[in-house]
Amino acid sequence: MRILCLLLAFVIALHAPSSCMADEYRATLDGFSVVPPLNISNNGTATFTFKEEDHTAVMYFQVNITAPGGARAAELHQASTQDPLNTNGNTTAVLWGPHDPHQDKPVDGQLGAGKLTTPDLFGPLKGLGIINLKDQIDNGGLIYLVILTKDHPEGEMRGQLISAENPYATDILAVAAG
Ligand SMILES: *[C@@H]1O[C@H](CO)[C@@H](O)[C@H](O)[C@H]1NC(C)=O
Ligand SMILES: *[C@@H]1O[C@H](CO)[C@@H](O)[C@H](O)[C@H]1NC(C)=O
Ligand SMILES: *[C@@H]1O[C@H](CO)[C@@H](O)[C@H](O)[C@H]1NC(C)=O
Ligand SMILES: *[C@@H]1O[C@H](CO)[C@@H](O)[C@H](O)[C@H]1NC(C)=O
Repeated sequence: MRILCLLLAFVIALHAPSSCMADEYRATLDGFSVVPPLNISNNGTATFTFKEEDHTAVMYFQVNITAPGGARAAELHQASTQDPLNTNGNTTAVLWGPHDPHQDKPVDGQLGAGKLTTPDLFGPLKGLGIINLKDQIDNGGLIYLVILTKDHPEGEMRGQLISAENPYATDILAVAAG
């Protein structure tokens, strides 16, 4: 995993050294983070891992939720640069779903897991690579995960993707290795 990070650091060092901050990200999902906020107890946890495969960045994900009413879809959205935590953005990828509306059933644990590759991106990231998705997280924290449900088709739980690592430790490693 560090290979991708180091490679990127080398390629883009002159332009944006801070782009290479981490390979592991997480999101904590809740109703209060939805815009406008929802007062519900449903929650979730997701992890995201960027890797290099066949010289291209890919992203593995795992989404767990506790939602008695089930879920319709899990999507990544790209928020506005103006106020990323308090605005709604456009869909850039669907991680899970859309689910058959007749099969809403309680979820308490893993909702979905898989791998995102370049052709899976659309909306603002259409035609771009997974590395551009990572860049939107590293430079601006623009990407969030949202769970759509029957009761809240616009979003019932939301969480911004943030680094799961210590960015400074990563930078020191990169400098030491370089
Ligand atoms: C959320 O709802 C609970 C009861 O359902 C209530 O006690 C609490 O005050 C509410 N919180 C907010 C911030 O509205
Ligand atoms: C999701 O739950 C599974 C077990 O059901 C666990 O192995 C995994 O670590 C969890 N992932 C996250 C992101 O919490
Ligand atoms: C939701 O919150 C409960 C209570 O804190 C916790 O036990 C559960 O693991 C959380 N669910 C997920 C999917 O993170
Ligand atoms: C979402 O897409 C619409 C149409 O392309 C655009 O006008 C809007 O600015 C986008 N929203 C964000 C937050 O980027």
